Amino acid sequence: MEAILLVGGKGSRLYPVTEHTPKPMVPTAGVPFLAHQLGRARAAGVGHVVLATSYLAEVFEPYFGDGADFGLRITYVHEAEPLGTGGAIRNAATALSCGPDEPVLVFNGDILTGLDIAALVEHHRVARADVSLHLTRVEDPSAFGLVPTDVAGRVLAFTEKPDCPEEIVTDQVNAGCYVFRRSVIATIPAGRPVSVERETFPGLLASGALLHGVVDQTYWLDLGRPAALIQASADLVRGVVPSPALPGRVGEYLILPGAHVDDGAKLLGGTVVGEGVHIAADAVVDGSIVLDGARIEAGAYVRSSLVGAGARVGSRTVLENAVIGDQAEIGGDNELLAGVRVRGRASIPDGAIRFS
Ligand code: GDD
Ligand code: MG
Repeated sequence: MEAILLVGGKGSRLYPVTEHTPKPMVPTAGVPFLAHQLGRARAAGVGHVVLATSYLAEVFEPYFGDGADFGLRITYVHEAEPLGTGGAIRNAATALSCGPDEPVLVFNGDILTGLDIAALVEHHRVARADVSLHLTRVEDPSAFGLVPTDVAGRVLAFTEKPDCPEEIVTDQVNAGCYVFRRSVIATIPAGRPVSVERETFPGLLASGALLHGVVDQTYWLDLGRPAALIQASADLVRGVVPSPALPGRVGEYLILPGAHVDDGAKLLGGTVVGEGVHIAADAVVDGSIVLDGARIEAGAYVRSSLVGAGARVGSRTVLENAVIGDQAEIGGDNELLAGVRVRGRASIPDGAIRFS
């Protein structure tokens, strides 16, 4: 089977993590997030993946090459100007080789899910749908595409990011994985930006097409925000959601080659420690991502945070739900809490930031 992966977004909600790295390439449980998605696609029987790239497109191919190392054939289709989700699907489809009636998988490039992909394709065949969509239920649907269905699963409407509370008629949202009949992709206009959510799906519904929704409540996370990305990494390390691409055994932590963790340091909660990292004695790192070459000094406490490559976290400094950019220098005895973000190369002196 063939799949299109949408990896062209700017990932602006993840800044500064995405300043030099597109969202799908951000290390998650030790490898670029995309490696987990490709591993799952392959396990579901996908043999050819088309990557629809735009923002920082040049970094994908050197890592994934022709896909052979990942057991796949990978083709790259680049958009000089971003074409939006629908335009990207249309553009990427030029690289597919399947016939017009065949199913084509399409994935948003920032979703971690335990979805049974093969089962979704089977539902699509049985329903003889034009497009099938994985749907999930969330507490606050307002940041997603709302997709009410009838009892048989027929999609009744598609409302992307509702403007007002009255539009929130369901807690079922678009989970960012579709099966398209290939010929349906050909109906998306070429050569201009198109949103699949705002234009293609509502247009298909208006023309009487059969959009079939499959509600599946397995593990699902959109990695669009730092807290979700950090959570996803920890869940991958602990095996809460399995991935064939995890570079090590499932456990409380994952230490990549060349890292040094001193005696008396404590790693837990699915923490991942990158190559060449140094974690000093009495530091505690819980449920966090520490990227290559970073230093966590003695007695520091890091929880649910991301520490960028080459950054330094000084002695006794506390980070909670913080994002530290690459090469940033955080002095000792600071407290960075509650979603604080520090840009790359920034420098914070000892004891400069305290909450209490
Ligand atoms: N190639 C390409 N070109 N890819 C793009 C472009 C583009 O112009 N714009 C966005 N993408 C990719 C992003 O990289 C991401 O993988 C995917 O399309 C979705 O874009 P996001 O920016 O992450 O959208 P979202 O999270 O706000 O909303 C989408 O996902 C939700 C589920 O997580 C929508 O599909 C919602 O309906 C859905 O509920
Ligand atoms: Mg997203």
